[in-house]
Amino acid sequence: MSEHSEKIVILDFGSQTTQLIARRIREQKVYSEIHPYNIDIGQLRAMQPSGIVLSGGPASVYDHDAPISDPALFDLGVPVLGICYGAQLMMQQLGGRVEKAAHREFGKAELTILYTGGIFAGMETAPTKYQVWMSHGDRIEVAAPGFTTTATSGHSPFAALRHEQKPFVAVQFHPEVVHTLIGNDVLRNFIFGLCKCHPDWTMHSFIDATVREIRKKVGGEKVICALSGGVDSSVTAALVNRAVGDQLTCIYVNNGLMRTGESESVLRFFRQKTDLQVIDIDATTYFLEQLRGVADPEEKRKRIGYGFIKIFEEEAGKLGKVKFLAQGTLYPDVIESVVFHGKAPIKSHHNVGGLPERMHLELIEPLRELFKDEVRELGLELGLPEEAIYRQPFPGPGLGIRIMGEITAERLNVLRQADVIVLEEMKKSGWYRKVWQSFAVLLPIQTVGVMGDGRTYENVVALRSVDSRDAMTADWSQLPYDLLGRISNRIINEVHGVNRVVYDISSKPPSTIEWE
Ligand code: XMP
Repeated sequence: MSEHSEKIVILDFGSQTTQLIARRIREQKVYSEIHPYNIDIGQLRAMQPSGIVLSGGPASVYDHDAPISDPALFDLGVPVLGICYGAQLMMQQLGGRVEKAAHREFGKAELTILYTGGIFAGMETAPTKYQVWMSHGDRIEVAAPGFTTTATSGHSPFAALRHEQKPFVAVQFHPEVVHTLIGNDVLRNFIFGLCKCHPDWTMHSFIDATVREIRKKVGGEKVICALSGGVDSSVTAALVNRAVGDQLTCIYVNNGLMRTGESESVLRFFRQKTDLQVIDIDATTYFLEQLRGVADPEEKRKRIGYGFIKIFEEEAGKLGKVKFLAQGTLYPDVIESVVFHGKAPIKSHHNVGGLPERMHLELIEPLRELFKDEVRELGLELGLPEEAIYRQPFPGPGLGIRIMGEITAERLNVLRQADVIVLEEMKKSGWYRKVWQSFAVLLPIQTVGVMGDGRTYENVVALRSVDSRDAMTADWSQLPYDLLGRISNRIINEVHGVNRVVYDISSKPPSTIEWE
């Protein structure tokens, strides 16, 4: 699905910050997408990019297995911006020379601009210096013919270059990171000045284009979608519903392992504000039966996953012939990550437990070009309630993996009560949106306490709150003591069966965010 009139294509050479380049460009309301560096030139031409960005990357251009894109991209008549490795590759492919530098430049550096046009339009030449972010061990020693230096830094005589006749520019620094204070200006000058793009890629235009595409693809067929209460599936459902109305049916499987009120607000929204058909299945009893006596984390996950598929399939089967499954896959899941040193590029697909293959369904993934924050923006534009949009991530197996040991209705009840208190206090104090996830975990041990005059022997609840950007790594949140104290007091006072609360101060790695 890409019906964007203007787009900047980023070729990925494996940099950690490639996604950031795409985000920064999209923040300027110009659509951009990431492709592997070795994309076929015919395919690249067919995309009719308004501009091409060559990303950074960990390799050296003179390595025998260095990632190299087809130099014919310089003949497409399209502006090209090379960043770090991309700049070095541009120089090498066009006749310059790159060598190992005597001094690596890593971190903040000072840039002196020698020419204020092009990507440096609006900026000042020496003696003004600009802070930029560098991260390179190689450097450009000889510029390719036709290029002149437009900026220098302490260790880079060619910190930036421009071609005298063609719209080719190269920067050794990283304009996409916040430490490059002129980064946005540089990117803006490239996309609007050199590429002549227009800032018209907005959520509004995205909705219009996507609705048209979905209608075209779906025709008169039926679509199903698994609604989970989370942001991605809710926004997917809202968007597909806008496109094809009641040809879409959503199936919400309550596995009995949800937080209190977790999905109700979303279901209420769809029922009251749209004509979306939602089949709401309460399978609590079934899941609890399946989980009886099971304490092993992997076994729990397997049974919960299997149960979901079974029920979803049964319900979908009652709808007659369905051709499509709508799914909230996001952009970070579909970008082909580029990995070097003998390893092939990896492409990861996230399907609902292999459902599309099993049920012979074609996928509709209207969010597959979007980042999470863009999905939130889209959700707001579609009128979804804020509390649904800013909900913290919640795992598919739900509270099942937050109850250590066997899951029973009683233990679920204890955890839910504790969890509500955590959420209430996090929201009230303004911390809910500041952290990545915050929740309670019910431990399988009992400890001695004293309440009133009596000895107690009750459960322990662990609090988990983490800061993260993408859940790949996470730090425990430094929540204020008084907030921790309030949560602990309330849980011990209000939740029967709990007499101790502890705070989890482990980071990921080596711990994970969830306890199971
Ligand atoms: P971990 O515990 O691996 O979790 O650090 C990373 C992120 O993934 C979420 N998570 C899941 N989400 N199904 C999901 O949809 C799962 O089985 C699952 N397990 C973990 C977790 O909440 C965190 O955001």
